[in-house]
Amino acid sequence: MSTHILGLETSCDETAASVVRDGRTILSNVVSTQHDLHERFGGVVPEIASRAHLERLLPVVRAAIADAGITLSDIDAIAVGNRPGLVGSLIVGASAAKALAWSLNKPLLGVDHVQAHLYAASLYPQSEIQDLKSEIAYPALGLVVSGGHTSLYAVRSTLSMRVIGRTIDDAVGEAYDKAAVILGAGYPGGPNIDKLARQGTADPRKFPRSMLGKESLDFSFSGLKTALLYAVRGTPLGRGKDARFERDHTALSEPERADLAASFQHAVVATLLKKIERAMDQLGETGERPNAIIVGGGVSANSLLRERLYAYADSTDTPVYLPDLAICVDNAAMIAGLAHAKLQAGQTDDLTLPVIATTAMH
Ligand code: KG4
Ligand code: ZN
Repeated sequence: MSTHILGLETSCDETAASVVRDGRTILSNVVSTQHDLHERFGGVVPEIASRAHLERLLPVVRAAIADAGITLSDIDAIAVGNRPGLVGSLIVGASAAKALAWSLNKPLLGVDHVQAHLYAASLYPQSEIQDLKSEIAYPALGLVVSGGHTSLYAVRSTLSMRVIGRTIDDAVGEAYDKAAVILGAGYPGGPNIDKLARQGTADPRKFPRSMLGKESLDFSFSGLKTALLYAVRGTPLGRGKDARFERDHTALSEPERADLAASFQHAVVATLLKKIERAMDQLGETGERPNAIIVGGGVSANSLLRERLYAYADSTDTPVYLPDLAICVDNAAMIAGLAHAKLQAGQTDDLTLPVIATTAMH
């Protein structure tokens, strides 16, 4: 008998629902993005996000059930991303999940969104032949690169991991989104910079790579962002909020914009790869040498990062697990998938499940 879990995800600006079979096969993956609602404010407006989740969640859930070709009575458990995120947004998903679990009399599972990003690489689209993917051999090194997180983990199992490095300022996705504003690449930032970068030529010496000392596994992207800002706009005249610039991205030719995007992308990806190498070495020295690398989060869709990770896998004989492109960014399949492992481990929740703004994965 297979197990069907319905997952809900409302932590930020995507309203998502998905049905996953046996923690492996995605039967449906419905995502309603709110990008259009927030674009003109230059960031996610929490009140608008909560209201939109409220309007969209039930139609999204109905679509996820219908796409999966099942009915509500076939669902064995309800999972919801209950942390981290915008509290008002999380409440919408958690309340709906509780109501569904209570009315269907099925288990409820709260899932950490960041941990779920690392589970995404274990999921298959329904069309894929299952035995092609191998099981992850733990211990593994985990890297979450999203709009809110850039962290490295020593992963002991699907449900057990500890943070070994994190960003001390901007998350890498955030750096991409800001780079897109600086280069006038529009919204969504990450994919647009990725595309623009592919049309340019990277100068590896153009931008700094912040390594934060010889041993550090932490990340810093704010220096790179400032270096890009000055490269595009020139040296600022004045300081702080009174700073004015000589020009903006409209003064650049298309090839110049593309080259800057390529150099930015090169610096980001080189930094991520360097920290992965360091983490592999350091864990090796303590007897925890990872057998695999698992990557997740929106930036794991990045074309250069994927290319470099696969090259690293080849040259070091270390398998690298990356999510399918459709489930790199926020989705509910990763929530339903990870929930299956929690269900098997007996880690269910009750109707007092809280929503929490921060991750448990510090
Ligand atoms: O995981 P995610 O959907 O949301 C968070 O949990 O934060 O990640 C969204 C982030 C955004 O910052 C977006 O610009 C970035 O992922 N992103 C990319 C690419 N696709 C999405 N960054 C670089 N290259 C991409 N192809
Ligand atoms: Zn996310």
